[in-house]
Amino acid sequence: MEANVSDVTDSLTVRDNRTGQEYEVPILDGTIRAADIGKIRSGEDEPGLAVYDPGFVNTASCRSSVTFIDGDKGVLEYRGYPIEQLAEQSNFLEVAYLLVHGSLPSKDEYDQWVHNITYHTFVHENVKGFMEGFRYDAHPMGMLMASVGALSTFYPESRNISDADNRAIQIIRMIAKMPTLGAWSFRHAQGKPYVYPDNALSYTENFLSMLFKMSEPKYEADPRLVKALDTLFILHADHEQNASANAVRSVGSTQVDPYSAVAAGVGALYGPLHGGANEAVLRMLKRIGSKSEIPAFIEGVKNGNERLMGFGHRVYKNYDPRAKIIKKACDDVFEVTGVNPLLEIAQELEKIALEDEYFVKRKLYPNVDFYSGLIYEAFQFPPEMFTVLFAIGRTPGWLAQWLELTQDKEQKIARPKQIYTGSRGLTYTPTDQRWV
Ligand SMILES: CC(C)(COP(=O)(O)OP(=O)(O)OC[C@H]1O[C@@H](n2cnc3c(N)ncnc32)[C@H](O)[C@@H]1OP(=O)(O)O)[C@@H](O)C(=O)NCCC(=O)NCCS
Repeated sequence: MEANVSDVTDSLTVRDNRTGQEYEVPILDGTIRAADIGKIRSGEDEPGLAVYDPGFVNTASCRSSVTFIDGDKGVLEYRGYPIEQLAEQSNFLEVAYLLVHGSLPSKDEYDQWVHNITYHTFVHENVKGFMEGFRYDAHPMGMLMASVGALSTFYPESRNISDADNRAIQIIRMIAKMPTLGAWSFRHAQGKPYVYPDNALSYTENFLSMLFKMSEPKYEADPRLVKALDTLFILHADHEQNASANAVRSVGSTQVDPYSAVAAGVGALYGPLHGGANEAVLRMLKRIGSKSEIPAFIEGVKNGNERLMGFGHRVYKNYDPRAKIIKKACDDVFEVTGVNPLLEIAQELEKIALEDEYFVKRKLYPNVDFYSGLIYEAFQFPPEMFTVLFAIGRTPGWLAQWLELTQDKEQKIARPKQIYTGSRGLTYTPTDQRWV
């Protein structure tokens, strides 16, 4: 392959044993271009060689400067800042600014950003109307996915994604309205009236108010709980090309409006292998029931009967840095709410698994979901709400990924190849001959 890329110094020499021909494939940023592999053909009329990678295990789909992860070392950085520093010293709205804009805000920029988001927390009354139309026991993630998608109909100009100002206002709207939609999905299943946003409160306080306020004139949340939930939002704010970010980018690559793209992200997050894992962790802990049952449970996992939920990660082959921070947040929350008895089982499970050869050999460590469910339960959230909390935290990340996509000249509509395994050239037999 003629590598006429002058600044490329590294390359791969590939010999096609079908033809004996050799190709020089440039290596850039530790990757080769799939299109270069496509130039390898066994004959002029034959299709080019393709790469088979179900689940994109070893395929880069974009260039991105949003989030860096070193899974072997357990490192996570947003725009270059380590997650530990952001979780400890920043707050969710500042982190959202960082993700979307690429750098930390000045005082003025921060104040303006917080003001804008605070004043877009209300939704059109008709949104409330159609949310009320869901069945009494509707899963809040289903409600969230539908209502985020529906926002595109309230802001039809959002489809003009080539306009920077237009993109900016939709991003503010979406970050602002997600807690409102999430809280209303929660209130709906409880048969409680929806609570309007209180713009005198901070982002996370306001969310708690919309969730839990009853007849009191002003809802006042314990600051330790506010801080813990804000930290959880920070920890979930982005995670590079995960399944939901990939869904947002894939749907966004069609140049649809950002509400529809984010609705696809919410849908991806709904799945138990992604955002639903903390709910599964809690169910698992309850089923185990006591410390004495742990060895039998672990045996079952090792025999392949089931998975230890909240363990293992596609990228982290070390302790998930977010799990460490969450473990610490557990202490703060339990100080207010009292200790969740399942914590003891979780800690013992972790201890046993981290010493067991099965998990050590496969580099399976606790991930972000292992402890987050325990905290959410302490807040008295039902398990169906856990993923909604994840979605609210992840919204700035989805939007940062979407924004990057819209400005990346190299991006195209996402359209993978397949290896066709079905029949070919069959002859259709009419029903009067087949159904005799
Ligand atoms: C997250 C997850 C989907 C990553 O999957 P993946 O990168 O495709 O990894 P694989 O499914 O190929 O697993 C690799 C090996 O570890 C095992 N494994 C992975 N996670 C496991 C778990 N939680 N419990 C037990 N075994 C597990 C697999 O069985 C496989 O073993 P094998 O090589 O003997 O077949 C997977 O670890 C998982 O299902 N974890 C539980 C769900 C969860 O916590 N999800 C939240 C992620 S933030």
